[in-house]
Amino acid sequence: MRKPLIAGNWKMNGDMKTSYKLITELKEGILNSDVETLICCPFTLINEVSTLIKGSNIKLGAQNMHWENKGAYTGEISADMLKELDVEYVILGHSERREIFLETDSIVNKKVLKALEKNIKPILCVGETLEEREKKQTKDKIKEQVLRALENVDENEIINVVIAYEPIWAIGTGKTATPVEANEVVGFIREILENKYGVDISEEIRILYGGSVKPENATEILNKQDIDGALVGGASLKANDFISIINF
Ligand code: PGA
Repeated sequence: MRKPLIAGNWKMNGDMKTSYKLITELKEGILNSDVETLICCPFTLINEVSTLIKGSNIKLGAQNMHWENKGAYTGEISADMLKELDVEYVILGHSERREIFLETDSIVNKKVLKALEKNIKPILCVGETLEEREKKQTKDKIKEQVLRALENVDENEIINVVIAYEPIWAIGTGKTATPVEANEVVGFIREILENKYGVDISEEIRILYGGSVKPENATEILNKQDIDGALVGGASLKANDFISIINF
């Protein structure tokens, strides 16, 4: 049985004051939830958020990391640095990293391998552009992204990977894939995993949907059979919205 995971991706938002308010309200609002709740905040807030979530069932994630252990990589953060702050998850291959910072599948693969080596669970993001969807290339794109990112990830390690299907045209745009569309692609990702790792392992891996998830559409999306949770951007910055998504 896969436990639902709702992850908030704060992106480049938030400060000490807003974090305190948000986390305090969140802790109160999800007291009775069985859902695994995760906050992926900016690096500068990890320490603060780590302290604020102590004693709660909220987990801590980062939004990126470098694939090398250490060295002359100005501006980068290593897996060990995240581990030191009790970070359990890291978002990798987000479409904003791929599009704005030109991260390739091969870079994403190196990061996934390093995160797994260091016992940080990667949330691997994949998704097609609007143009690719319109040209009916969604499945080809998703298959390539998933397989390239998971090169050399073995059967023991894949269990610790979470995959997030985030159609690029749905991120921050207010447009959501319909629950049926989202479920179809998520189901397709499970098929890819089944072919690579076998049915038993593929049934254990959580696959999330992300892209304009909000209280109004969360219930329908999250009740779809193949969708095991959500990666939530904008709505995770508003305590009430995030709480109602978690309590879907
Ligand atoms: P959004 O972002 O919910 O604001 O669309 C999702 C994401 O980028 O992870």
